[in-house]
Formats: sequence, C-alpha cells, structure tokens
Amino acid sequence: MLAKVLLRIMKFIFNLGRQSDISLAELYSVFGEQNLNPLSNNFAVLESDNIPENMEKIGGSYKLSMDPIILELNDWDNISNIVSEYIKSGKDPSKKITFGLSIYNKEINPKEIHKIGFQIKKRLLKDINSCRYVENKDKELNSAQIINNKLTKANNAEVNIIFDKNNIWIAKTIFIQNITRYAARDFNRPFRDTKNGMLPPKLAQIIINMATEDKRMTVLDPFCGTGVVLQEAMLMGNNIIGSDLNPRMVDYSIGNIKWLKTRFKIDQSLKKEFLVGDAQVIKWPHFDTVATETNLGAPLTNIPDRLHFDKIVKDANRLIESFLKNLRNQIDVGKRICIAIPAWKLPNNSIKTLGIVDHLSDLGYNLIEFKELNSQELIYLRPDQVVGRQLLALTRK
Ligand SMILES: C[S@@+](CC[C@H](N)C(=O)[O-])C[C@H]1O[C@@H](n2cnc3c(N)ncnc32)[C@H](O)[C@@H]1O
Repeated sequence: MLAKVLLRIMKFIFNLGRQSDISLAELYSVFGEQNLNPLSNNFAVLESDNIPENMEKIGGSYKLSMDPIILELNDWDNISNIVSEYIKSGKDPSKKITFGLSIYNKEINPKEIHKIGFQIKKRLLKDINSCRYVENKDKELNSAQIINNKLTKANNAEVNIIFDKNNIWIAKTIFIQNITRYAARDFNRPFRDTKNGMLPPKLAQIIINMATEDKRMTVLDPFCGTGVVLQEAMLMGNNIIGSDLNPRMVDYSIGNIKWLKTRFKIDQSLKKEFLVGDAQVIKWPHFDTVATETNLGAPLTNIPDRLHFDKIVKDANRLIESFLKNLRNQIDVGKRICIAIPAWKLPNNSIKTLGIVDHLSDLGYNLIEFKELNSQELIYLRPDQVVGRQLLALTRK
C-alpha cells in the first residue's frame, strides 16, 4: 500500500515595497500565479510547502514573513496578549528573546507602539528569563534595526502586524533585504556613468526575474552600458552576453564584471561575451532571453518645450521599434523577455508612454498579462524623477 504523504502548506507574506505592482509582477514571474495572491496594500501571500529559496535574488520585495495568524479587527483590543503568545510559541524559555514590532496600514504613532511593546515584554517575562524590546522610531522597523538586532534569528522575532479590510495578520520576519550588500555592488563598482542614469541593482534583478526561468540561462543585454544587468544576471547564476553601440560602455561592462568576480562568489563555469554593436542591426551569438534597460533618451529634470520633447519621444520610439524588429528574427517563438523603456512624468503628473506599447502585437510580441495587474502600467519612477522606466514583459509571438 502506498504511504500517504502529507504536505504542510505554509503561508508566506511578501512586503512589496513602494513599487508594489512591479514587485508583484516579479513574484508572479518567479513563483507563478496559482498560489500567490495580493493582500491589502503592498503585500502578497504565497502558499507553498517549501520556504522560498534565494530571496537574495528577488529585487522588489524587501521582506518575507511566515506562519501568519489571522485575527478579527476587534482583536486589536487584546493585541499585546495575542502577540506575546505568538512570540513565545516554539521559543526556548531559558534563552533571551529579542523582539520588535512593525505595524502596517494603521494610523498609529510610535508612542502607542512602545506601549504595546512594553506590555508584550511584561507578559513574556512571566514565562521566560530574559527579554528585550527593540523600540520603534517609526511604525516599521528599518532593515538595519532588524539585521543588527538579529531579529530573524531563531529565538528572536520581528512581528509584523498587517491590517487589511477585514482582518489583522500577524507574521514573523524570516528574511529582510540587506541594503549594505546592494550598495557594495552598486557604489563600489570601478566604472560608473552618471550621465546615462544608474539602474538600481534591485530593478535589474526584477527585469531578469521577469525574463528568465528557474534554470541557468544565457541572458542578453543589448544596451549593456556599465553592465548592471549583466552583473546581476551573473550573480543570479546565468551566462551573459552584453552589447552596446558605444565601445567605451562595452569596456566599462568588461571592467565591472572583472571586478565583480574578484569581490563576489561567482560560479567559475559561467560564460560571458561582449560585443560592440547597434541593437537595431547587430546579429548576436545564441542567447536564451533578453533583459535590458534600453536607451532612455536625454536625462531630464523637467519636461522640455513641446518641440524638444516630441523629438525625444520620437527618437526613443524609433530606436526601440527597430531594436524589437531586429530581435524578433533572432529569438524563438514563445520565448519570454523583459525590457525597460523610457516613460515620462508630465507636469500634470500623468505618465507619457511610448506609442510602440500599443503596437507590440504588430511588431511580433505579446504583452504578458499578470493577475490583478495592468501590464501596461508597470512603471518604475521615483518621486523626484521625470524620466521613468516602463517594464514590458513580452513573449515572441
Ligand atoms: C540607459 S543606458 C543603459 C545603462 C545600463 N543598464 C547600465 O547598467 O549602465 C543605455 C545604453 O544604450 C546604449 N545605446 C544607445 N543607443 C544604442 C543602440 N542603437 N544600440 C545599442 N546600444 C545603444 C548607450 O550607449 C547606453 O550605454
């Protein structure tokens, strides 16, 4: 008789961050849509029988928590009791517990959080020897507080208290993005190019995750610039091909990848190739997918006069259209790619996107649809920026 295998389905909660739609699209690309659902503002819940691996490869979601309990909204009156029981369960009472609280989607000031924190501490001290509460400066603990106080370690806890429309979710953090590690591979690179703008490594990871599958692939960046996408693609375990119209940029990419290999653990068997060439006409060596930030046009602090702006938009349209035409003859039907193209914030705060976005089908591509998201609105734009990036996840038709 076959033994019955029981799987324990666990729930994991991702904090999606400021650009929540883009982060969610990335998670759908990595984990699939079936077991992943948005939860209130800025969160998503994954049901899985495995703890998500390689969270360091996820660019958009900055925190992962697990083992949630779901409360009624009026349980808030009893929150310190509930949270102290939650923290205590599974902990060794002879060891010190350090804990902290982060509260989401609720108007509350840090003083009130302190009060709850100290009530929890008092309750915990009835059953355990030693306990420390990490005080909040804000509603949410920051990454340094979580890492420095080792709150993701076994006998400690950061408890996330998340309000949605009907419930309160309580969950403990198991992963937090390490900002210092991102900074080390961003700001310490020997070759940088401030003129073309800096692609944040986290956004490069998102683009790569939206273009790749969970296996080693050969990732092409046809506008490689200083090589941020190439760098992240290698760190994520992929072979790389980088090309750029500007030979100096190709040299920068080569130099940065050489540097990366001296500073970070990279699989020595990974292959890399660099070429100088115009993305509109070049013939690339064999690749599996494309992850790229195309030319974004002139860096802008304001939208210029009509004539000037129309020319910027027209040039960008023309370049990306002929790049996509060149690419379509070199990529197999059904293959997925992800490209970041320019989009602009207009003075009235609306977003100007490129005309080609409405003609992708004529160009030989389908825009990938994502559950509960508008695929045409995946726009990465910091509040102080005029030139943003529109992410297009495409399949070759
Ligand atoms: C926004 S930058 C990309 C920056 C890059 N993500 C990085 O990590 O530095 C765009 C790049 O496209 C290149 N470029 C512009 N026109 C091109 C073309 N027709 N073909 C290929 N590359 C081009 C520029 O030289 C520039 O390096």
